[in-house]
Amino acid sequence: MEKEHPLHRLQFGTDFHWGVSTAAFQIEGSGDSDGKGRSIWDTFTAGKGRIRNNDHARIACDFYNSYEQDIALLCGLHIPDFRFSLSWTRMLPAGRGALNQKGIDYYNRLIDHLLGQGIVPWTTLYHWDLPQALQDKGGWVNPDSISWFADYAAVCAKHFGDRIPNWMVMNEPSVFTGAGYFLGIHAPGKRGLTSYLKSVHHVTMATAAAAGVLRGDTQSNIGTTFSFTHIEPTSQKPKDVAAAARVDTLLNRTFIEPLLGMGYPDDDLPLLRRIRRHMRPGDEKLLAFDFDFIGAQCYTREIVRARFFTPYIGAGLVPATKRASETTEMGWEVYPPSMYHTLKRLHAYDKIKKIIVTENGAAFPDTVVNGHVYDSRRRDYLQSHLRELLRAQQEGVNVKGYFVWTLTDNFEWAEGYHPRFGLIHVDFETQRRTIKQSGYWYRDFLRQL
Ligand code: NOJ
Repeated sequence: MEKEHPLHRLQFGTDFHWGVSTAAFQIEGSGDSDGKGRSIWDTFTAGKGRIRNNDHARIACDFYNSYEQDIALLCGLHIPDFRFSLSWTRMLPAGRGALNQKGIDYYNRLIDHLLGQGIVPWTTLYHWDLPQALQDKGGWVNPDSISWFADYAAVCAKHFGDRIPNWMVMNEPSVFTGAGYFLGIHAPGKRGLTSYLKSVHHVTMATAAAAGVLRGDTQSNIGTTFSFTHIEPTSQKPKDVAAAARVDTLLNRTFIEPLLGMGYPDDDLPLLRRIRRHMRPGDEKLLAFDFDFIGAQCYTREIVRARFFTPYIGAGLVPATKRASETTEMGWEVYPPSMYHTLKRLHAYDKIKKIIVTENGAAFPDTVVNGHVYDSRRRDYLQSHLRELLRAQQEGVNVKGYFVWTLTDNFEWAEGYHPRFGLIHVDFETQRRTIKQSGYWYRDFLRQL
């Protein structure tokens, strides 16, 4: 329970951005409406046994049709900033080539509606739904993916660049390459070290290339997001400390360091040296980009014990459920100092100008009781993480925004609809929305003058 003095919004500064984050595939549904092409997640969710309960996202939150209703709820909660992603295959059904005007029209309507309601849009170019037609050519394993993605960025800049003040290029590259191209538990379900290492390099190159396109074609702020998990060794034995450093490198440094101009952190994780086999002459110089902000997404910490395969295939991670700590429906430990440590270490990179916490939140087993959802654990989770953010800010970290994951319960990838992360409960049978206690808490917090 929250025992300290209540937090006040203005403690974070008057120029601090407050929002919620979403992603197209997790909320929109309508996977084949109005000329949309298939993405790797449409394909992956159509197979049996890949998603908990064989859930699919053909309807999800029906945001494609009913975004006005959810934006009205957003406004009612006094949330000023809204992060959403663009679905590549709504606009370019085959990933490149012919444009689908109806997809462009949809995002124009959404953006204009947000602006009309006084909401600030924050737009992610890529939140994991690669066009299937491009996956059929190898997806991120194919070096051509760099130019496919840069061309897609140019389409987005041309059609929406005048109205989107804040762009994020990629969402959590370590997760979609690790889960999708190494472990095979996310779309496109590929496994293996070579496909993983190639995808790491091409995604990093594509991030810098697309950011350059946005820089050239818009006047907007350009960022990209990464997941960060605070890592600790289970003991101070040298082998545990070394194993924890390898996990940390894999999860927290592999993408951001080359993009900051530091190269791949292959001294600390020698396996990354193999990326060099997949680099073309001149690639080193194209890996970096001068971002206006870095999006940090932080949920939990991991404790690492040395195992033969650490850090690969999850070996050596001590399950949070086996530790004496509170866990969420994802099995993730509730450990608020992870936010503080993450922000402090990002601050130590001198190339980072500004940090926005582009996701933070928790899944709990919420139920509607007489029209109410009493999710005090989520409210406590959010408050305690905000306190840690404030602690870092007061120590000089330039963190200027906080976005809750997420507005409504939605499709949580391989976990289907089981984990509920929303400030608003969704009954997926009826599409009925119920604002949770945490949503009202956020509203009251944001209304403070
Ligand atoms: C990170 C991802 O960006 C988002 O898609 C996901 O739903 C949340 N974290 C929760 O796992």
